[in-house]
Amino acid sequence: MLDTKTTPTHDLFVRLCHWFIALLFVAAFFIVDGGDLSHELVGYAIAALVLFRLLWGLLGPPSARLSLLVFKLKDLRSQLSRLYTKPLAPRLAHTRPAQANQAHDTSALASLMKLNLWLLLLLCALSGWAQETERFWGEAWLQKSHELLAETLFAFIAVHITAVLFIQFKHQPTLIASMLFSNKVKETRHTEK
Ligand code: HEM
Ligand code: HEM
Repeated sequence: MLDTKTTPTHDLFVRLCHWFIALLFVAAFFIVDGGDLSHELVGYAIAALVLFRLLWGLLGPPSARLSLLVFKLKDLRSQLSRLYTKPLAPRLAHTRPAQANQAHDTSALASLMKLNLWLLLLLCALSGWAQETERFWGEAWLQKSHELLAETLFAFIAVHITAVLFIQFKHQPTLIASMLFSNKVKETRHTEK
């Protein structure tokens, strides 16, 4: 059975954080050179945005709460086994429920990817900062780790974008729009009954 309703999704702050982080990552990875001051500033800006987003996850509206990212291991298993079936339950991506007490509706895969991207972004900026300190100045292993972290991030971002496109076209046509334009999208979902 099809059920259409309007659901609060990503608020303006979450959307601004997302697109600035994405833009600045592209700048740090492709545009500004490792040794430049601009690279360092871009790296610090990314770390600050991730930290603001996490803080917003504690203080912001229910739809942005970090508690929505909590999932059970069995949800992850069942989601993986349903990856290619239709309709999806629980859904692959988050469509933020209006009430925080609907956290059980969380997508395990989407949660894992978000936590993973935030962690890698912070570690990358931290390893970049550490290179500049007196203690670790010129340490080859740290330079290598920083580059490896940036490349791992790049790989996971490619998976993230592929997953978003897959979900957008196969299951949830409002997904990209929810991160671009509006904090409310009309959503059509399949219900059990
Ligand atoms: C280029 C670097 C990118 C990075 C570092 C990145 C990172 C992230 C992060 C950290 C989140 C969690 C956001 C939050 O809850 O605050 C997220 C969600 C999301 N991203 Fe990206 N992203 C990138 C590119 C893109 C692109 C190009 C698209 C569109 C094609 C996209 C679409 C989305 C969508 C739709 C969500 C929400 C998914 C959901 O609600 O489950 N992202 N991204
Ligand atoms: C998430 C944020 C960051 C990303 C994605 C990133 C990415 C990269 C990449 C891809 C490289 C290797 C290519 C190149 O030399 O341009 C690099 C090198 C470098 N990064 Fe970052 N970076 C980030 C944050 C930072 C920060 C915060 C600092 C310092 C405050 C920093 C300092 C450096 C330095 C000094 C190098 C050159 C290392 C060497 O000599 O091999 N980075 N970064």
